Amino acid sequence: MINIGIIGYGYWGPNLVRNLIETPGASVRMVADLDSRKLQAVQQRYPTVKTTQVFMELVNDPDIHAVAIATPVSSHFELAMAALKAGKHVWVEKPMTETSVQARRLIDEAERRKLVLIVDHTFIYTGAVRKMQEIVASGELGRVYYYDSIRVNLGLFQRDVNVISDLAVHDFSILDFLLNEHPVAVSASGMNHFQGTPENLAYVTLFYDSGAIGHANVNWLAPVKVRQILLGGSKKMILYDDMQPSEKIKVYDRGISFTDDPQEIYRLRVGYRSGDMWAPQLDMSEALRVEGEHFVKCIDAGQRPITDGRLGLRVVELIEAATSSMRGRGETMHLLHQGKNS
Ligand SMILES: NC(=O)c1ccc[n+]([C@@H]2O[C@H](COP(=O)([O-])OP(=O)(O)OC[C@H]3O[C@@H](n4cnc5c(N)ncnc54)[C@H](O)[C@@H]3O)[C@@H](O)[C@H]2O)c1
Repeated sequence: MINIGIIGYGYWGPNLVRNLIETPGASVRMVADLDSRKLQAVQQRYPTVKTTQVFMELVNDPDIHAVAIATPVSSHFELAMAALKAGKHVWVEKPMTETSVQARRLIDEAERRKLVLIVDHTFIYTGAVRKMQEIVASGELGRVYYYDSIRVNLGLFQRDVNVISDLAVHDFSILDFLLNEHPVAVSASGMNHFQGTPENLAYVTLFYDSGAIGHANVNWLAPVKVRQILLGGSKKMILYDDMQPSEKIKVYDRGISFTDDPQEIYRLRVGYRSGDMWAPQLDMSEALRVEGEHFVKCIDAGQRPITDGRLGLRVVELIEAATSSMRGRGETMHLLHQGKNS
């Protein structure tokens, strides 16, 4: 049995507690939060779970094997490092850290101590994204030409992070998982419409050596909630609409082809293919539940999680590059070429 302590019971923390409590092979022992009212809520709902306002009490508890961190990003490094140094496996919320330097230090510490470090890039554990990855990996989509995402709503304004760090972070992790390739350059534009607050909308473009291009439109100031991704391939195309209660993924057998026939040279050489559309069956399990089981399995087997510290680091590097580009009004930032993901 893996005993888990959870730090942070704000907006996201309760989802971790609820899912990790139900995860086979795991037991939630303690929850820490600075706010005593949050701890009262824990006690009412889960009377057997201990609570504390002092996170070090949880970190130093010898009965706790793993620590999950769901506090604001600015505190992730300090809390995760303290937990690793105390010999605990760590689950840290996205984005992993504020800086790539901090992310590298956490990876080194976890590797040196042979501890599991998982970053909660939740979308990777959804049935929809796993199905998209399966379709891409099988070659059914053909060569990936583009990924185009809209992630907008009247969002919770964050104090410590901009909209790229809050929302585009999901696209960065999904792209990493789908393409298994790191972008070579990024360009972003964005705005903060309220003085003294982080940027509340951004348009981010990612360029890949393979010729694929990725784009994310992220916005906390939209009147409606839209969560849509288009993934265009040379053979097929996918529409993923996360707001649909069912049939979130639709695969379209549509595209164009060019003829090389010299007889056709003076005629229109493009042919349109408009075939069937179908909605594949998806695993509708809650992503955090799947991720919780994966975390426990990785601890038991000493394996690296799918969303390990390295994926977390690649995402933080993209946030840094996209944010610099945005502050330079779209200046292209070239990234250290890493080719296929390690
Ligand atoms: N995976 C996802 O899809 C997803 C969704 C939402 C939020 N998140 C992430 O979860 C994290 C938390 O976000 P949130 O929206 O829940 O924030 P929040 O501000 O609502 O909650 C944070 C909680 O942490 C507590 N806290 C802060 N510092 C602490 C410390 N040192 N010790 C103990 N408690 C402390 C606060 O009192 C608060 O209750 C962020 O990293 C965010 O990006 C992830």
